Amino acid sequence: MIDIEVRNLDCAFIQNNGTPINVIQDLSFNVRKGEFIVILGESGCGKSTILQLLSGLIFPTAGEIIVNGHPLTRPDPAISLLFQGSTLLPWLNVSDNIQFGCRIRKDLRDLPDRVDRYLRMMKLEQYRSFYPQELSVGLSKRVDLARALIGNPKALLLDEPFAPLDYYTKKRLLHELLSIWNEVQMTCVYVTHDIEEALQLGQRILIMNNDPGSIAFQMEVPLPYPRIITDQDFIRLKKELLDEFSLISNSLTSINNE
Ligand SMILES: Nc1ncnc2c1ncn2[C@@H]1O[C@H](COP(=O)(O)OP(=O)(O)OP(=O)(O)O)[C@@H](O)[C@H]1O
Ligand SMILES: [Mg+2]
Repeated sequence: MIDIEVRNLDCAFIQNNGTPINVIQDLSFNVRKGEFIVILGESGCGKSTILQLLSGLIFPTAGEIIVNGHPLTRPDPAISLLFQGSTLLPWLNVSDNIQFGCRIRKDLRDLPDRVDRYLRMMKLEQYRSFYPQELSVGLSKRVDLARALIGNPKALLLDEPFAPLDYYTKKRLLHELLSIWNEVQMTCVYVTHDIEEALQLGQRILIMNNDPGSIAFQMEVPLPYPRIITDQDFIRLKKELLDEFSLISNSLTSINNE
């Protein structure tokens, strides 16, 4: 398992007019080994940017990311990123999409067995020869997840993976994700803008503010799993989070009161 320490991170992008804009500023937080944390924030606050930084795909303009005591200087195969949009390759079937990254990395040991294991785990066995265009969005998300897991990552970063799904498909996949997290013992960082989803998953929830993005609030979630959304404690914490969220983003106050 992996622990991650994010220290005083800034990240700037160059705008169309050539001037840099800081989208992340002085961002600091830590993730303990095996912890499941959720980062909650409005659209555009920098959630995807943080995950790209944590996966070593882009680099900060200041600050550093320490993984198991060492600065992160390039993508680490032990850290797997599940992107916000589907990244399945349309010319490969489900089975080949799942093993694509392993083949590129020459991580071939027991590969057919691992493919079978993750097809089974994600309930995709009957779809192994299907192409992405033949899959529902829910099935595509299962393939994305199998592909992120097959390399046995020690940390999994998930970027709003279930946002486009209907309520019950999302619930089922959240439940399955928690079982996988329990079974394979990995560190998870999950980003979302959905408060209920955050409370169902996170041992700790961090709320971001916007423009530029940094952490404005943290909450430990002391509830056992599985979390029941109608339980009094769940409802109380949801209200607390809603209040914090609206304080951080003033524009939401009137919406919350509707
Ligand atoms: N490559 C880039 N070049 C310039 N600006 C960028 C780039 N990537 C992201 N941004 C800007 O950085 C800010 C944060 O983007 P990011 O995608 O991280 O937000 P987000 O919180 O993931 O949003 P959403 O919830 O809509 O996915 C946005 O203002 C976005 O326009
Ligand atoms: Mg995003």
